[in-house]
Amino acid sequence: MIERCQEDTRPRFGPRARTAVVLAAAALLAATSAAFLPGTASAGTTLGASAAEKGRYFGTAVAANKLSDSAYTTILNREFNSVTPENEMKIDATEPQQGRFSYGAADQIVSHARSRGMSVRGHTLAWHSQQPGWMQSMSGSALRQAMLNHVTQVATHFRGQVVAWDVVNEAFADGSSGARRDSNLQRTGNDWIEAAFRAADAADPNAKLCYNDYNTDNWTHAKTQAVYNMVRDFKSRGVPIDCVGFQSHFNNDSPYNSNYRTTLSSFAALGVDVQVTELDIQGAPANTYRSVVEDCLAVARCNGVTVWGIRDSDSWRASQTPLLFNNSGQKKAAYDAVLAALNTGTTPTDPPTNPPTTPPTNPPGGSCTATLQDGTRWGDRFNSTVTVSGASNWTVVVAVTPPQKISSTWNGSPTWDSSGNVMTMRSNGSGNAFGFTTMANGNWNRPVVQSCTAS
Ligand code: XIL
Repeated sequence: MIERCQEDTRPRFGPRARTAVVLAAAALLAATSAAFLPGTASAGTTLGASAAEKGRYFGTAVAANKLSDSAYTTILNREFNSVTPENEMKIDATEPQQGRFSYGAADQIVSHARSRGMSVRGHTLAWHSQQPGWMQSMSGSALRQAMLNHVTQVATHFRGQVVAWDVVNEAFADGSSGARRDSNLQRTGNDWIEAAFRAADAADPNAKLCYNDYNTDNWTHAKTQAVYNMVRDFKSRGVPIDCVGFQSHFNNDSPYNSNYRTTLSSFAALGVDVQVTELDIQGAPANTYRSVVEDCLAVARCNGVTVWGIRDSDSWRASQTPLLFNNSGQKKAAYDAVLAALNTGTTPTDPPTNPPTTPPTNPPGGSCTATLQDGTRWGDRFNSTVTVSGASNWTVVVAVTPPQKISSTWNGSPTWDSSGNVMTMRSNGSGNAFGFTTMANGNWNRPVVQSCTAS
C-alpha cells in the first residue's frame, strides 16, 4: 500500500489538489477572456459522441456471441464508445478449471471494442455468483488463495486494455442489516475485499479499480450506507480503490429515486469516481432515463453510463423491455431523452490551464490539412477535435505523449501503433472532423498531428 502511494502516477483529487486547480482556474479566468468558458450545447448525434463531448463515455454490455449479428454490431459501433463484457470476464468464463484460464470470448470483445476506439470496463474479478464449480466447493485459505490468484491472472492478462475493473461485485446483503452478504468468499475473512483490490492494483496499476453493486442507488438505504462506509474506510486506510459502480437495475421493486444524484455526489466526495454500470429501467420510461443521465452529468466525477444491453431482446430482463432500442433495433423514446440530456446544458469542468494558442496544424507536405483544437479539460483528462480540409477520405496520424493515453474517440476509425501512443484515424463517413479524449496521467502536452493523407 505504501509503495503504491509512492509509485502511483494516477491523478489524485484530494482536497489540496482540487483547491490548487480551482485557484489556478480563477486566476486564469480573471486574466483572460471569456473564450475559456465551456460551450452551452453540443450537437452530438450518437450516445457515445455526445457523452464524449461532455467528457463521459456511454457504454453497453456486450455478448461475444452477438458480434456476428450485424443488426447488433451496427448499433454497437454507431452509438457506444465503451463496452462491458456481459458474462465473458466472469470467473466461470475465465477460469473454468482451476489454473486453466480461458480468454477467447473476452478477448474477442476487447479487440472488437479497442479496434474501434471504444474503452473496456472489466467485469468482474471477485464475486459470489457465476463461480465455476471448483471454486464453489472451496473454502478457507485455499479459496482465498485461489481468488487472489484469479484476480492476479485475469487483471494481468487484460493489463493496459481495461480502463476500469469491477474488482469486487455485490458483496453486501440486501435489506436493512447493512451487513456483508454471506458467501464462501466472505467466510474467508472480512478483509477479502481489500485483499482483492490490492491484488488487482499490483497486477494492473493503471486500471481504475471499482467496487460494484445493486440496490445501492437510494441514498437512504442501509445497503447504500454500508458500501459508503466501506469506501470511506478504504480511502482512509489507503486501500487502492478508485471508483464505485452503481448497477442501477431499476424496476417496480427497486425504483429510481430522485436522491440518486445525492448518492453519486456523496460517494464522489469521498475521493472516488462514480459510474453507472448496468443501467436498465423496467418499461424504459423516458423521464427516468433522462434523470439518470442528468444526475451523472451533474456530478463531475461521474465518468459515464453503461446500459446493460442494446436491444430489449438482448436484455437479461427482456420481458421488462428496459433498454434504449426495441427488438428490431429502433430507437425508443428513452433513447431520444438520453441523447437530448447528453446534448443539453454545460458541464462542470476545470477550465484549461494552458493559454489559448493558434491551433496547430500538421506540417506542410501532406495531401490534406488537419487542424487540432483543444476541447474541454477536466481534472484528469481533456478532449481534442481534429478538423480536416482538402479531402473527404482522409487518414490522420496523431501522437500523444506517454504516459498520456487516448481513452475514447468518436467520428473516425482508429488503429494504433504497438506503443498505443500513435493513433492513425481514418474517415468513416461521419464527416470531416473527429475527436478523442486523452487521459493526461500527469502530462498536459497537446497531442500532435503528424500527418494528413488523402486516399
Ligand atoms: C447477468 C447477465 O446479464 C446474464 O446474461 C447472466 O445470465 C447473469 O448475469 N449484476 C451483475 C451482472 O453484476 O453481471 C449480471 O449480469 C446482472 C446483475
